[in-house]
Amino acid sequence: MKGIILAAGRGTRLYPMTRPVCKPLLPVYDKPLIYYPLSVLMQAGIREVLVIVPPGEVDTFAALLGDGSQLGMNIQYTVQPVARGIADALLIGREFVNGDDVCLVLGDNIFWSPNFQQLLKQAVANNQGATVFGCYVDDPRPFGVVEFDQDGKAISIEEKPQNPKSNYIVPGLYVYDGQAMDIAANLTPSARGELEITDVNLEYLHRNQLQVVPMEENYVWLDAGNANSMLQAAQTIHDLQANQQQYVGVIEQLAYQEGWISHDQLHQLGEELSMTEYGQHLLSL
Ligand code: G1P
Repeated sequence: MKGIILAAGRGTRLYPMTRPVCKPLLPVYDKPLIYYPLSVLMQAGIREVLVIVPPGEVDTFAALLGDGSQLGMNIQYTVQPVARGIADALLIGREFVNGDDVCLVLGDNIFWSPNFQQLLKQAVANNQGATVFGCYVDDPRPFGVVEFDQDGKAISIEEKPQNPKSNYIVPGLYVYDGQAMDIAANLTPSARGELEITDVNLEYLHRNQLQVVPMEENYVWLDAGNANSMLQAAQTIHDLQANQQQYVGVIEQLAYQEGWISHDQLHQLGEELSMTEYGQHLLSL
């Protein structure tokens, strides 16, 4: 399975911060925002990742993550020339994915739960068609909203509905088989001029091949899109790490746990950051 991170938004809701620096490179507490979606793909066991960035930004992202070899991974970069929607990532990544299954994650989505890695690995292993997740939110109107029947089976998904049929939204994490690229290629842009990922999910739903996995209790899902949600995200990560000793988005630790780098390599990465608590955490492992 391949991974794609769509990190191509300009982040205009965070101006002026994002005038010189792209949103996924901004800090969320002690690490750049993009570490969190990258860590999601790593927890799914994915080592080959394509990062889709805004025009002119390949070098800044590459300065942070390199070619991934320091994590025992292969990380590549490409641009999204025009903001044409999330489903466009499947078209941009088509050659990279090369008929494989793919896990697509948005560059500003943060996930955590006590058993998130297990949930994710199961979802990837069991995927037949498409697998998405369901998160309960108080106000679902800005998101893709999924409606379930009495047996818990998804029966509809609507993008940003005025009158949502449930409080369950589909967050920015999608697992697809090889059909996804053709489905995306046949979409027509929505009223907001975008190729909607909800339309891809709906097509899988019509084919009876969409699985919606509800997030278990005590999960964290954050969509870090404006100043308030950035602050909330930073506070949440701080609290998890300080009070519960639950480290979130620590990509070096995950690479070590997955067996992609040795203890010596982990130690060296920790040494490079030893002036920070982050580095000290790596050295303590
Ligand atoms: C997008 C998707 C929406 C999804 C959300 C998650 O919304 O269109 O279905 O629930 O991401 O963050 P957008 O960021 O385009 O408003």
